[in-house]
Amino acid sequence: MGLLAASPWLHAAAPTGLLTRKVPSTGEALPVIGAGTSGSFEVEAGSAQYQQLKTVLKAFFEGGGRVIDTSPNYGGADRILGQLLEEGGWHRQCFIATKIAANSRADAQAQWAGSLESLRTDKVDLLQIHNLRDWQRQLPYAQELKQQGKTRYVGITHYLNSGQDEVASIVRSQPLDFIQINYSVNAPEAARELLPLCQDKGIAVLINRAFDDGRLFAKVKDQALPAWAADAGIGSWAQLFLKFAISHPAVTTVIPATSRPDRQLDQLKAGHEPMLTQAQQQALIKLFA
Ligand SMILES: NC(=O)c1ccc[n+]([C@@H]2O[C@H](COP(=O)([O-])OP(=O)(O)OC[C@H]3O[C@@H](n4cnc5c(N)ncnc54)[C@H](OP(=O)(O)O)[C@@H]3O)[C@@H](O)[C@H]2O)c1
Repeated sequence: MGLLAASPWLHAAAPTGLLTRKVPSTGEALPVIGAGTSGSFEVEAGSAQYQQLKTVLKAFFEGGGRVIDTSPNYGGADRILGQLLEEGGWHRQCFIATKIAANSRADAQAQWAGSLESLRTDKVDLLQIHNLRDWQRQLPYAQELKQQGKTRYVGITHYLNSGQDEVASIVRSQPLDFIQINYSVNAPEAARELLPLCQDKGIAVLINRAFDDGRLFAKVKDQALPAWAADAGIGSWAQLFLKFAISHPAVTTVIPATSRPDRQLDQLKAGHEPMLTQAQQQALIKLFA
């Protein structure tokens, strides 16, 4: 095996040119730009917003995207996602990441059955314990489902800095394929300990809240991009925020949410070389501190 093939985060181009990174536990390559569904997919089936989401997903899949994150407690977003995937014929392309958010085994079993029905599938790619809820009971259940071939990967999620110590402690003690955590220009703390730990342990990382749930856009309203952005191939603040996230070598895929096709097309443009230098990353952290 050559040096490049041995690298756990080897960059390789998907047919569309979107960069991919490898899931350490299997070597499977996933595109660095994914999508979230919280808020943005909480719409009514058949509505104008629903039709707009169909255009969002068409742009996403045609642009080389694959990873979509959802949850049974995102106000029906998983049901909308399942219907859109079926109508668009995209189930085979989609890497479906969903969650368990329950307080007992019985609740988790009922929720899991509902998730499969909502997502219109008989298995998913990644099953995560949502916000570490009841993880001591739910993680073994998710591992059982993995043994049964119902999910290919198992993980845990959180979205706040205050959850990162517990995520790190579980990473140290439990077998996991993925974690999902917050990481952004104004919340870069995960880079201190958690992301290097995942690299060491060979655990894939999904990044949520790369836009701080949209709040970062209010902060840069009417503000020009840094002078060096064009050299880094960056044409918008959204691309800059996403490129910050994927510039950490531990990161597998960032999962920004949007309900707008123009924003989806823009986000996909972040998934290309070059990554940000250390100096550029530090300049951004200082700008948003
Ligand atoms: N605990 C957990 O497991 C957890 C917690 C949080 C998030 N997540 C996952 O991570 C995903 C992403 O996190 P998030 O949804 O909280 O936040 P985010 O991706 O940081 O921000 C999404 C928000 O940004 C807005 N936006 C996107 N592009 C924009 C642009 N160019 N200009 C202005 N606004 C823009 C979107 O609105 P529009 O729809 O109008 O574009 C949406 O409201 C979630 O959808 C979910 O799948 C998981």
